[in-house]
Amino acid sequence: MYNEHITFPKDFVWGTAAASYQIEGAADTDGKGKSIWDEFSHIPGNIEDGSTGDTACDHYHRYEEDIRLMSMMGMKHYRLSLSWPRILPGGTKSAGLNIQGLDFYDRLIDALLEYDITPWVTLFHWDLPAALQREGGFASRETIDAFCDYTDIATRRLGDRVKNWMTFNEPWVFSFCGHFSGVHAPGEKDIRKTLAVAHNILVAHGKSMPIIRENIPGAKAGIVNNLAWVESASHKQEDADAARRWDLAFNRWFLDPLFGREYPDEMVKWYGEAMPEIKAGDFDLIAAPADFMGINYYTRRLVVYDPNDNHIKAKQVYRTHILRAEFEEWEIYPEGLYHTLIRMKEEYGNIPIYITENGTTCPHEMISDDGCVHDPLRVEYLRRHFAAVWQAIQEGADARGFFTWSFCDNFEWAFGFSKRFGLVYIDYEHNLRRIIKDSGHFAADVCNQNGFAIT
Ligand code: FCB
Repeated sequence: MYNEHITFPKDFVWGTAAASYQIEGAADTDGKGKSIWDEFSHIPGNIEDGSTGDTACDHYHRYEEDIRLMSMMGMKHYRLSLSWPRILPGGTKSAGLNIQGLDFYDRLIDALLEYDITPWVTLFHWDLPAALQREGGFASRETIDAFCDYTDIATRRLGDRVKNWMTFNEPWVFSFCGHFSGVHAPGEKDIRKTLAVAHNILVAHGKSMPIIRENIPGAKAGIVNNLAWVESASHKQEDADAARRWDLAFNRWFLDPLFGREYPDEMVKWYGEAMPEIKAGDFDLIAAPADFMGINYYTRRLVVYDPNDNHIKAKQVYRTHILRAEFEEWEIYPEGLYHTLIRMKEEYGNIPIYITENGTTCPHEMISDDGCVHDPLRVEYLRRHFAAVWQAIQEGADARGFFTWSFCDNFEWAFGFSKRFGLVYIDYEHNLRRIIKDSGHFAADVCNQNGFAIT
């Protein structure tokens, strides 16, 4: 029988990821201010199951238990995000600092280090202080300065222990889902604002990078993009054009300026009047050298021309025979991760890459009679994506780590608690008890062996 062991490079980083609003709860505890997600989730109709992140997994109070679990699983790295309004309830330095918020992150980081787990911190995973949104949010350039102050405060306080920093999580999702389709906070539908938000986020990223470096000698810093592998669903020219626009708008709109190439011409012309204000020097700021880039990869997009689409005249199509996650639109396509890594190597200078998110939902997850949670689809999903990364590494891609999304089930944004992504099951019916799923045991084994056997 054919049996081979896939082994990852020495020092490959294995971990899990989560984000503040999705797990912390304690929505107005210890002086925390409101975020746009606190407000958005409370508006009826915005969240599929009518839930909010008010309590979520109560990680704010149960973080020690969670870290113990991570440690039991042998996880040596954890990607978390800070809640900006927990630290600056009014968004700005002048509106006042909430020491209790910073104290929480101090305790969290100390606990991680006590268990020998390295923290990787994202500064912005979408929970913008609501007070800043009232002043225009990221569509206003003033928010760039507020973000820099927040970066300064967070890195000064935690930088003695946290060396790995990410500025923003998924600028595309925050700008487009929040300001164009309106399915995420702050729920706007305006292409001009969307593009302004996307641009200002990139500038804020670039401006905050030197602050991180100055406050933390030896820090490693970068941004996290969600990249999708885009393919035309047919050989028709109009579909191929639509797929190209999708790639330009979704991937290259962010990658090109980050790598010093400004926005892709074709899309600049396409957006025309809707283009944001670009100040002299913005592109130099955006292209600030980074130590790594985070990639969140979930699926491929198969695209056709759609004259009714009001963005890029393109839409995603689904084939019925393919294996998919619980979301209809999330085809399970690990080859896309492999291609994306090879693309980063060939087109973007082979910058060191961490897969900062990858994972899936599974239909009908539940606690079985044996008390366990069996999620074979997630095990298979992860196995294939781990293998895709390994294959890309063999071909010279500089992938250095993999954080599974997510450590535990949590508040999945507009889906509320109706979609589970965790390696650890949260029993929302019974005191939020935690149960390591089969996939959690599998990921733990992979992490402990730095690889796995293919049989
Ligand atoms: C990503 C988000 C993350 C989680 C996963 C499923 O887009 O960054 O918070 O919701 O999707």
